[in-house]
Amino acid sequence: MPGRLIDLFAGCGGMTSGFVAAGFEPVLAVEWELPAAATYAANFGEDHVVCGDIAAVAEDAVPEADVVIGGPPCQGFSNLGAKDPADPRNRLWREYVRVVARARPAVFVIENVDRFRSSHEFALLIDEVERGRLRRYRLTHAVLNAADYGVAQRRHRTIVIGSRIGPPHLPEPTHVDRPVSVRRALHGVPRHPVGTELPDSAETYFGRRVPGSFKAAEIHVGRRPTATSAERYRAVPPGGNRFDLARERPDLLPDCWRNKPTGTTDVMGRLWWDQPSVTVRTEFYKPEKGRYLHPEEHRPITHLEAARLQSFPDDFLWCGSKVAIAKQIGNAVPPLLARRIAETVAELLDRG
Ligand SMILES: C[S@@+](CC[C@H](N)C(=O)[O-])C[C@H]1O[C@@H](n2cnc3c(N)ncnc32)[C@H](O)[C@@H]1O
Repeated sequence: MPGRLIDLFAGCGGMTSGFVAAGFEPVLAVEWELPAAATYAANFGEDHVVCGDIAAVAEDAVPEADVVIGGPPCQGFSNLGAKDPADPRNRLWREYVRVVARARPAVFVIENVDRFRSSHEFALLIDEVERGRLRRYRLTHAVLNAADYGVAQRRHRTIVIGSRIGPPHLPEPTHVDRPVSVRRALHGVPRHPVGTELPDSAETYFGRRVPGSFKAAEIHVGRRPTATSAERYRAVPPGGNRFDLARERPDLLPDCWRNKPTGTTDVMGRLWWDQPSVTVRTEFYKPEKGRYLHPEEHRPITHLEAARLQSFPDDFLWCGSKVAIAKQIGNAVPPLLARRIAETVAELLDRG
């Protein structure tokens, strides 16, 4: 057994999923959004989950752990004010350090957006490691691309590993020259969604009713596009985007695009079968937000397809509304990337 695990800001548990696959045992998870906490509980158990604000977790409710994972969501991207204890952006960070200091893990892992290293929170982290409560830890950090680790998605995230038992290291990339394609990730998923709505079922988590829990096949749900949207989807060829739409069917262009003929090529784009996908975000069901059209079908990807592109296993259960589940999927650390990180952490613990 590699060790005891605490997940702060746990979301649906994408990161925990990878650590559990590598043999870790979750002993505390904190997540304040009920649908995400319910999804976490459906997969990893409810007994060790605090569904609430991290600030409400009492000192004596924090168990000792070998590893703490998760990072405070970034509030902004400026180092200004990093030293000002009254800055409201310090709040989550202070809570994070409080729990880590109490749990005394051998290793902690922070995942955050790629710009994290130019954020206020990163400056605070360095300050804590240099002269604060984390000064026994040594750090390593880099921006990793999930596609380099076998996830069928280009997703750049900052990973920080802090260790007080030996020099930490990041996992070696395994798939730089042979990335996993969308085709492979969606293998076996039926071409047609099962419908547009989730089944009408609910379970009780944390004393409240939550829609779910839903199996993979049940979240293969699409949307009911307007006639105009459906026509737009049809006008985008394989690998195309909104510029093809502008050429083929200018009559279908919304005014905002007509007036802005330049810009990102991902808007209203189709995924490519033989490449990893673009980053799956929380609104992947809206093709006007990115390259989220199915490679061939005239529709955006479904929740199941997004979960597959994030490398969630098909036995993962989901709770919440369609919007809430999409948010959980888009916010998650791909379980496969988390597993690679967990394996390097397990090696560190073995040696330490
Ligand atoms: C990026 S998501 C985490 C994703 C997660 N690591 C995964 O792999 O699935 C950040 C989470 O922090 C939660 N969160 C933000 N502020 C919080 C707070 N004060 N207390 C507890 N959870 C919080 C959000 O609801 C969100 O689900």
